[in-house]
Amino acid sequence: MKSFIINGPNKAIKGEINISGAKNSCLPLMAASILFKKKVILKNVPFVKDVLTMKDLLISLGAKVELIKEKKTIKISNKKKHKLIVPYNLVSTMRAGVLTMGPLLARYPKNKIKVALGGGCALGIRDTSWHLSGFKSLGADNTLSKGYVNISAKNGLKGNIFKFPKVTVTGSSNLIMASVLIKGEHVIKNISLEPEVIDLIKFLNNSGAKIKFIGRRSIIIRGVSELISGEHTIIGDRIEAFSYLCVGAITNGKTKVKNINPKYLNTELGILKKIGYKISINGNSITLSPGKKLKPAIIKTGPWPQLATDNMPIILAVLTKIPGKSIIEETIFSNRFMAVPELKRMGAKISIKKNKATIIGQKNLKSADCISSDLRTTFSIILAAIAADGSSTISRIYHGLRGYENLQLKLKNLGIKIKLRK
Ligand code: EPU
Repeated sequence: MKSFIINGPNKAIKGEINISGAKNSCLPLMAASILFKKKVILKNVPFVKDVLTMKDLLISLGAKVELIKEKKTIKISNKKKHKLIVPYNLVSTMRAGVLTMGPLLARYPKNKIKVALGGGCALGIRDTSWHLSGFKSLGADNTLSKGYVNISAKNGLKGNIFKFPKVTVTGSSNLIMASVLIKGEHVIKNISLEPEVIDLIKFLNNSGAKIKFIGRRSIIIRGVSELISGEHTIIGDRIEAFSYLCVGAITNGKTKVKNINPKYLNTELGILKKIGYKISINGNSITLSPGKKLKPAIIKTGPWPQLATDNMPIILAVLTKIPGKSIIEETIFSNRFMAVPELKRMGAKISIKKNKATIIGQKNLKSADCISSDLRTTFSIILAAIAADGSSTISRIYHGLRGYENLQLKLKNLGIKIKLRK
């Protein structure tokens, strides 16, 4: 099993990083290709493990997928009728596989679509019942059999009104995709406004869909009979950008991230400024410079535009070194503090009560051998290892490779002493 060995402490790291395309934008966009009879071309694709798993899933459904890595491009054509079964092995390794439900339902509403349910994951229970209630509002019933959900609308899909009980990112994308080819108009309320969902809406509208905002979190979708051929450049990855800014933060150095719209990180940049770092913005690049007197923070995750839950384990690692008492409240997932036991083994002082973490900043962290348990936890532990005295080993880094492109190379380019052990 691959591990990283990081020698610390790395102090005042200086460097620039080109940010890749957003994984969480790329995955729904790839799933959306199912809606098209013509070729879809996606640019600025991050070649991370989850994207390759989505490629395998699309191929298993009958799509032709061409990867052109040097051009960061994927071409997908869906000329053949799709197989209507999404197998368990692909959904269990990557939960975003459920994003194929909506587009398959849109293309083949009267057929039976069989999708494996993903079950739980490291972050807690990952339910899809709101996705299914959304499909129901369009006229699609579902039944459960042997861990698979069967979805079908025997009278076709018809417009209606649906309100999500709480904000769900992939639930919003799934229902939007299910609705673009319906008869009539569908109103969806309380949708996610994450930049990745907006990116999907832009792509679909540029391809002939008719999706319009009629309120802050409400949209109306007027069904169209077909989408025209689609081409789209994926937005920069705000989670990756914040992660590398935090390499600068934890070493009190200077890191610049390029190819990222700073608006996607408004809240996160506000938090870094409040702690005391200097932030400067120039077009699509953000630079973090050292602060003199760093202060603890009280922060809370939430749906966009609040602090992204995916960025929480990252800022958590930074706060372990900021003098004073910081508090983080997690409001999205039931189990998002998996980095904490590992950070504590490196000398961090963190206590957890329900969904709140209290962090007492320490001057020094110490190296340790750690195990990563999910994607963002991997970067959280990497940050602590970068700042810790001595050599740390981080195993199960495959979690990190699911979502960070060229992880080792980018850290190396920043001057981090990092080696891969196979
Ligand atoms: N939820 C339900 N029922 C549902 C749907 C969601 O109870 O039917 C709950 C979830 O259990 C969770 C909350 O609603 O407590 C929010 O979950 P959401 O559906 O928004 O999460 P997701 O769409 O499954 C996406 C990202 C995650 C990111 C979350 C939150 C993708 C492919 N995944 O997941 O990204 O953490 O939104 O922003 O877009 C990551 O990249 O590391 C990652 C985990």
